[in-house]
Amino acid sequence: MKMNELKLVYFSPTGTTRKVVMETASRISLKSVSFDLTVHKDKKPSLKFKNNDFVIFGIPVYGGRVPATFLRYFENLSGKNTPAALIATYGCREYEDALLELKTEVESRGFKVIGAAAFPTEHSIVRSIGLGRPNKEDLKTISDYGIQLNRRIHSEAAFEGIQITVPGNTPYRKPGSAGLVPKTDVSLCTECGHCAKVCPSGAIPAKDPKKTDKKLCVSCQKCVRICKEKARYVSGMKLRMLTDRLNKVCKSDKDAEIFL
Ligand SMILES: Cc1cc2nc3c(=O)[nH]c(=O)nc-3n(C[C@H](O)[C@H](O)[C@H](O)COP(=O)(O)O)c2cc1C
Repeated sequence: MKMNELKLVYFSPTGTTRKVVMETASRISLKSVSFDLTVHKDKKPSLKFKNNDFVIFGIPVYGGRVPATFLRYFENLSGKNTPAALIATYGCREYEDALLELKTEVESRGFKVIGAAAFPTEHSIVRSIGLGRPNKEDLKTISDYGIQLNRRIHSEAAFEGIQITVPGNTPYRKPGSAGLVPKTDVSLCTECGHCAKVCPSGAIPAKDPKKTDKKLCVSCQKCVRICKEKARYVSGMKLRMLTDRLNKVCKSDKDAEIFL
């Protein structure tokens, strides 16, 4: 079968997953089109793919699961036995049920998973964990994953025979929250509204960007990262407590796991 296009469907509030997806994609010899689902959209885009497209799905792991914000876009997602590869990035703790959940969700919408990978990265909340990852060595591993996927999609053999097994359990872990809803230092905020524009969950009102809807916020830290005035921050005490907890359970030198 002659392959059509490479479609990149990802969620990446602090940019790490995007980097990993792009590195993988750079090894696939097909024209690529990106569907960055990080920016909140009231009208969900249509994500309908052909049987000769190849789709890479990329997510950061949140509480050992696929971020619920990303799955909300799946109501408009469909494939026609479309080959797909999965990428989960995680902050050197665990990815638990995330790959299994992602695989189950995409397969139930008409995709055939032909590869999956979990890549340990810098933790987007406590950045000293896995600091600087993906590093040069990681990028080599990620790029090798891309090379192997490229071989697979261009080989004559049909995808039907491929069975990918990923770790994880059902019922999935209960979705948790990092509980780190950012606050605004009103003395620094210029109300430029940039944070409201880029918030993945629509938790910051455009008319009053000093506020955050705690129920909608997913603690992704995007607003903290992008605010030029450094007006968005998380409580020092909560961050210290989380840092202590994560330092005990994360291992900054974890290895990537690839399932082909
Ligand atoms: C709310 C939240 C929950 C997270 N949960 C986990 C987790 O369960 N396990 C883990 O190892 N890392 C966890 N992380 C770290 C991210 O998965 C990791 O840093 C990821 O690479 C961030 O991707 P991004 O830069 O594309 O947003 C979490 C981060 C956030 C913000």
